[in-house]
Amino acid sequence: GVGGSRHPSIPLPVDLFKAADGHRNSMGLDLSDRPTLERMVGVVNAPLRNQPGEGRGPASGDSQLDPGLRRGGEEVRDAVSRAHAAFPAWNATPVDARAACLERLADLLEEHRDELMAICVQEAKKSIPDAIGEVREAADFCRYYAVEARRRLQAVELPGPTGERNMLHVEGRGVWATVAPWNFPLAIFLGQTAAALVAGNTVVAKPAPQTPLIARRAVELAHEAGVPADALVLVTGGPEVGQALTEDVRVMGVAFTGSTATAKRIARTLVQDDDQEGPGRPIVPLIAETGGINAMIVDSTALPEQVVADVVTSAFRSAGQRCSALRLLLVQEDVADGLIEMLKGAMDTLTVGDPGDPATDVGPVIDRAAFDRLMNYREQVRDRWIKTVDAPTEGLFVPPTAIRLGSVEELNQEWFGPLLHIATWKAGELRETIARVNAKGYGLTMGLHSRIARAAEVAEAEAAVGNLYVNRSMIGAVVGSQPFGGEGLSGTGPKAGGPHYLYRFTAERAVSVDT
Ligand code: NAD
Ligand code: ALA
Repeated sequence: GVGGSRHPSIPLPVDLFKAADGHRNSMGLDLSDRPTLERMVGVVNAPLRNQPGEGRGPASGDSQLDPGLRRGGEEVRDAVSRAHAAFPAWNATPVDARAACLERLADLLEEHRDELMAICVQEAKKSIPDAIGEVREAADFCRYYAVEARRRLQAVELPGPTGERNMLHVEGRGVWATVAPWNFPLAIFLGQTAAALVAGNTVVAKPAPQTPLIARRAVELAHEAGVPADALVLVTGGPEVGQALTEDVRVMGVAFTGSTATAKRIARTLVQDDDQEGPGRPIVPLIAETGGINAMIVDSTALPEQVVADVVTSAFRSAGQRCSALRLLLVQEDVADGLIEMLKGAMDTLTVGDPGDPATDVGPVIDRAAFDRLMNYREQVRDRWIKTVDAPTEGLFVPPTAIRLGSVEELNQEWFGPLLHIATWKAGELRETIARVNAKGYGLTMGLHSRIARAAEVAEAEAAVGNLYVNRSMIGAVVGSQPFGGEGLSGTGPKAGGPHYLYRFTAERAVSVDT
């Protein structure tokens, strides 16, 4: 690996990032145990058994390599036909049996932990701790939705006058399309899919074109766990395959995670009525979870050491390629200089390198296009750098960089990488500062560091975000504890890993019978 050897005993990623996810389930791995870590380095760097192009399972690989729309369109239509035909039987399968499939899938994910981690590292360029987190979160989603399905998706009897029987049934809606990003290629891909399935829907699942292998493995394991082959069908490819899928009028719901622009595009697709002959396309739900310009606000009472550790974790872990990641650090003017000095020192300890190297804190970004976009922007704002970190020049390594802004308003775009913007705010203007962040229109995560209880109350009341984090890092939402999802430009609001998520995938039907 190209990671430095500045941390001879305990590698930094484990040290610095350990607490970020509130790991309740470490997947049986303790990376602070050196022999375990060394074994995992071997495991995640070993050649994968099924490389793209080996002809196993459905076509994989980037759609850029595919001949194009026609083939993608046919493949998609066939997939939707299969899922459409499979819906009645799967929807009629008792919820308990569907939930049991998810539990078996969680067991299989854990059994296949090493293989899945290796694909995450090699295909998605995840660090070793992130790869554990990925498998863990996927298994957590499956187990959590299984429990919630049994609890919430039963028919309920409702009150009425004597002689009238009122029932509310909760059922699947039909075929769902699940469209996933590359940055959580197992956890989000499978989380959306598992939720749709357990609610009684059949699913055509489309992973990001950068990460088809891990998706294919997840679907194979779901089938092994008892999900019928046609209840979950994988289609691979890029935007044109996603487009063909969401255009299919038999799709009765879309669960999408990715960029805001794509979410808007899908919303437009879903209301288009090209079929002038028939009754037109049904009005179907879109669950969209998108990006954000996530801010952390720090006041003069905050503990600087904790702030700096949480900033480094939130902005640079996963090379900043988390939708939840910190993009805009807002420090109270009076303490800004001291805090920024400490932050520079902490950034100096970051090691940028290969994902499979245990010394790596910050790995490469996902692909050349992302690298070029980030590096061009970084170059444009060179005169505002206040700190940058050494990174290998060969490969897709974007050096973690802190960029000083004159005001909150200067950042108006999500830069999906290890670039942290910093501005200041004036004492006594917490409410106004939150309003200025809200005004950007996104609403995913926000952080606050303060030891004043009133400040936390103000943030709770004023921050227009789906996830507010006080005195901790802003990433690593834990399934069942921190239901995750944003509002405004950041999404339509459903909270993955929360108690109400499954209802979003259902049709509720009330039946009243007078006897
Ligand atoms: P993207 O929007 O480019 O792609 C996401 C998925 O949509 C891919 O599978 C892609 O092929 C598909 N797609 C593209 N065009 C489509 C179309 N016209 N119709 C249907 N599908 C289409 O996003 P990305 O680059 O893969 O992921 C990064 C983005 O995802 C960032 O903006 C990040 O903030 C966001 N994200 C959000 C969350 C969340 O939970 N809120 C989680 C992870 C990532
Ligand atoms: N759920 C992921 C996180 O919280 C995106 O970091």
